[in-house]
Amino acid sequence: MTVISGRFQHRVAAITGGASGVGREAAARIAAEGGRVFLWDRDERALAAAAAAIPGAQTARVDVADAADVARAAEAAFRAHGRLDILVASAGITGPTAPLWEYPIEEWRRVIDIDLHGIFNSCRAVVPLMLKNDYGRIVNISSVAGKEGNPNASAYSTAKAGVIGLTKSLGKELAPTGVRVNCITPATFKSPILAQLPQSQIDYMKSKIPMGRLGEVEEVAALVCWLASEECSFSTAATFDISGGRTTY
Ligand SMILES: NC(=O)c1ccc[n+]([C@@H]2O[C@H](COP(=O)([O-])OP(=O)(O)OC[C@H]3O[C@@H](n4cnc5c(N)ncnc54)[C@H](O)[C@@H]3O)[C@@H](O)[C@H]2O)c1
Repeated sequence: MTVISGRFQHRVAAITGGASGVGREAAARIAAEGGRVFLWDRDERALAAAAAAIPGAQTARVDVADAADVARAAEAAFRAHGRLDILVASAGITGPTAPLWEYPIEEWRRVIDIDLHGIFNSCRAVVPLMLKNDYGRIVNISSVAGKEGNPNASAYSTAKAGVIGLTKSLGKELAPTGVRVNCITPATFKSPILAQLPQSQIDYMKSKIPMGRLGEVEEVAALVCWLASEECSFSTAATFDISGGRTTY
């Protein structure tokens, strides 16, 4: 991990999905660079492991699909330090791999509830708190699937496209304030989420990446952390590509 000394000094960050993958990596980096981090995740065992590895990290068991749960955690983080500066909204699942006409209806709802409504719930909870100090950085994790659509992943692709639209809308609503809102659209990178997919789906997604390899969480977290920093001052409502050349728009 490359550490930029003091970049997040005095900043308070909430990271959904902070117990694993890119959320955990971004949290570790924000903490190493001086920030106070709150990890929000529904996986208590993974939360405990992440908290043990990230000095000073605090945890809350949060289901992002539950708006009241997220609001409670946001209030608690704000109360602890009198500010909430950063949201990294990384919690997500892939859902089943199946063509749309065979997609189980309940699974469709579950993916949309977590991957899209979870981002709405998280942004809705933190924005009023960020506005109290007229400062905020929101980084929503979308996916190339939201730009291009991956076959056999219609719910995931739909949710991730929704995250791009939500980011554009919210970013413009907040543009006159000190709160910046951006999203990233990674191609496949190595993380525990890949265990939710059949190897054939991973092979398909890898075959689409001109660099011929999967990304690393450190590479994705580096972009997340720049977007979460003060240096990201003139970008908002934007979608940042990180895809080994797969999507160039
Ligand atoms: N890994 C990839 O190839 C890839 C590519 C593009 C986008 N993404 C997106 O990146 C984000 C992070 O994924 P990752 O690869 O780090 O996966 P990961 O599985 O390592 O981390 C996701 C975390 O989200 C948590 N989570 C799931 N549902 C939740 C809920 N309802 N409430 C709270 N927490 C919940 C999980 O417990 C887990 O800790 C996801 O939104 C994913 O869709 C991943």
